[in-house]
Amino acid sequence: MQIISNPTRAEIVIAANALKNGNLVSFPTETVYGLGADATNEKAVGKIYMTKGRPRNHPVIVHISSVNQVENWAREIPEYAIRLGSAYWPGPVTLILKRNSRASDFITGGQESVGLRVPNQQAALALIQEFEKLGGFGIAAPSANRFGSVSPTTARAVEKELGKYLGGEDLILDDGQCEIGVESSIVDCTQVNPVVLRPGAITDEMIEDVTGLAVLLKSDVSENRAPGLLESHYAPNAKVILGLSAKLGDGFIALDQIPTPIGSIRLAAPTSIEDYARDLYEALRKGDQLGLDKIYVAEPEGPGLAIAIRDRLGKASRGNRT
Ligand code: TXA
Ligand code: MG
Repeated sequence: MQIISNPTRAEIVIAANALKNGNLVSFPTETVYGLGADATNEKAVGKIYMTKGRPRNHPVIVHISSVNQVENWAREIPEYAIRLGSAYWPGPVTLILKRNSRASDFITGGQESVGLRVPNQQAALALIQEFEKLGGFGIAAPSANRFGSVSPTTARAVEKELGKYLGGEDLILDDGQCEIGVESSIVDCTQVNPVVLRPGAITDEMIEDVTGLAVLLKSDVSENRAPGLLESHYAPNAKVILGLSAKLGDGFIALDQIPTPIGSIRLAAPTSIEDYARDLYEALRKGDQLGLDKIYVAEPEGPGLAIAIRDRLGKASRGNRT
């Protein structure tokens, strides 16, 4: 495995060739780092599952360069999905659409739908475009962490998570810290109304604005395929507890205005919801690096990105609160 920092165009071309040759390339997006493979290469996608330790029935998102590429992977695309892609791509939203024959079972986990996203990050877009120039159709990329663990928002975190599992020809592109810091919103566009399966930076209001349709809750639909609902997800080794009652030697994460409980170790003090999202996963990792047993987290209140943060914290903590 090799790490390429601040990749030049020439190095992006090398990375695109690595993908074309069936190797893995971890790359930054505006949300979190992804672990990429040629989405049409079964063996290469198989390496993603091995490297992450992820169950095979768990689908992966295909990253494409623009809304014009949607038809390469999907069929019977509703107009509202095209509106969403046109309005918010490149950006932090994944659209779930009916798959076409290019989207094999090894991408969709055997489901009849496929997840598509155009990331809003320069190196990522350049990588996808160079890959398409080589005849590629899309880059399959889940978050670049071991299954169930915290998504990486820096290349160092990718190296820590996956370094020992990556092969000799695999690459990590380091282009700094991810701007948003929590994973994309996932919108199921296979029904009459959009259904949000995972909240993110693209909010329900933003979806309703563009589509003119009401966003349905996950519980409103019979077939529940929500991601990240497994027992421990987005979780560090330390036990995450929601609340303020950190004791001596416990980790503590909260907005800046909330004081640090006496004796606890402040892991982050973000001054805005955006900073909270961006720094949360690195703060959880820092707790693990310090070998802490418990990390107490004060959830942010309010709408928008705060909803996504509370969603991830709910899963990281498995609902533990004081
Ligand atoms: O921000 C992101 O979405 C990042 C970056 C790298 O793009 N990717 C990411 O991928 O978070 P991953 O695999 O860690 O999470 C994607 C989630 C999975 O939980 C998966 O179950 C769900 O999306 N998903 C993918 N395809 C799906 C499908 N066809 N139907 C339902 N859920 C799907
Ligand atoms: Mg993930």
